Amino acid sequence: MARILPALQPDGSVDAGAVRRAAERLAAGALVALPTETVYGLGARADDAAAVAQIFAAKGRPSDHPLIVHVADAAGAARFAAAMPPVAERLIAAFWPGPLTVIVPRRPDIAAEAAGGQDSVGLRCPAHPVALALLREAAALGVPGVAAPSANRFGRVSPTCAAHVASEFEAQPDLLVLDGGYCEVGIESAIVDCSRGQPVLLRPGGLTREQIEATAGESLRERDAAAPRASGTLEAHYAPQAKVLLLEAEALRRALAGASSSVHRVALYSRTVAPPSGLPGRLMPDRADAAAHELFAALRELDALGVAQIWVEAPPPGSDWDGVRDRLQRAAAA
Ligand code: TXA
Ligand code: MG
Repeated sequence: MARILPALQPDGSVDAGAVRRAAERLAAGALVALPTETVYGLGARADDAAAVAQIFAAKGRPSDHPLIVHVADAAGAARFAAAMPPVAERLIAAFWPGPLTVIVPRRPDIAAEAAGGQDSVGLRCPAHPVALALLREAAALGVPGVAAPSANRFGRVSPTCAAHVASEFEAQPDLLVLDGGYCEVGIESAIVDCSRGQPVLLRPGGLTREQIEATAGESLRERDAAAPRASGTLEAHYAPQAKVLLLEAEALRRALAGASSSVHRVALYSRTVAPPSGLPGRLMPDRADAAAHELFAALRELDALGVAQIWVEAPPPGSDWDGVRDRLQRAAAA
């Protein structure tokens, strides 16, 4: 079992001792799981190939899938970027610290392993106070940035609290998990590739397309086949053990009318369709941000019931739901 270290004091302030311990471990090349405002990350110093290799091994993630490098501020990003495209500069100025990752050309002398061999690098400054304190403390110890994918095994549901992380890495007794409470946003950052001309939205996340475009000053291209390999962008991802079926409200009602829950071992996650009596389920919030906040915990909770299938009501149209819709579509594709 991983070791969970509380990193917030009862009054909500950051526990400097816990952060220092974690920063020292990072500096020494060990893995540390850290809270961010999106999901928990599994971190290692980005400039250390052996440290980064432990991330890929622990997650069971192919080593050519690039990781996001977390930095304390825009100056920290400059250490990794061969050039900072003006659009990336504008996005950073507007949204950091926050749930936005920019992909920019990488300086060839750093973070090649973290970048999965790409000539670009994904950079993000997270808004969680524990993450920021850790990145600053680590920087003071000579760590220029922390590579951190979501702290789940490859293809599984991302963790939004320290207990989720510990359950993902039961086989890693040495893993230190900084406990910063429940993640505010609940789904991963939006990723904008600024390294290849017109910016491309590689992954919808905690910010809407409109918010990003308003700041970018241009429209975002859709991801296309030329986009680099990205595990968060594989069709099947975010998968619980149970099979996820994503159904429009009408189809969901019909399926429920024709189903016997005891036979099918089904749980329901719906917004407008009430669960029939006897069927386990929970209601999805009406607001997209509230739905994102609890999405991964809800999938874990329903999965823990041991059902064979989770029937999920498709989110409504509207770009504020893009992030939630994307994660559910990928969960259903598994
Ligand atoms: O909110 C988040 O972004 C969380 C927290 C921990 O910060 N991190 C996260 O990391 O979601 P991960 O590894 O699960 O997803 C990172 C995504 C992957 O799809 C990866 O392939 C893509 O970012 N990515 C990273 N660097 C890239 C690059 N240079 N080019 C293209 N895609 C990249
Ligand atoms: Mg992930």
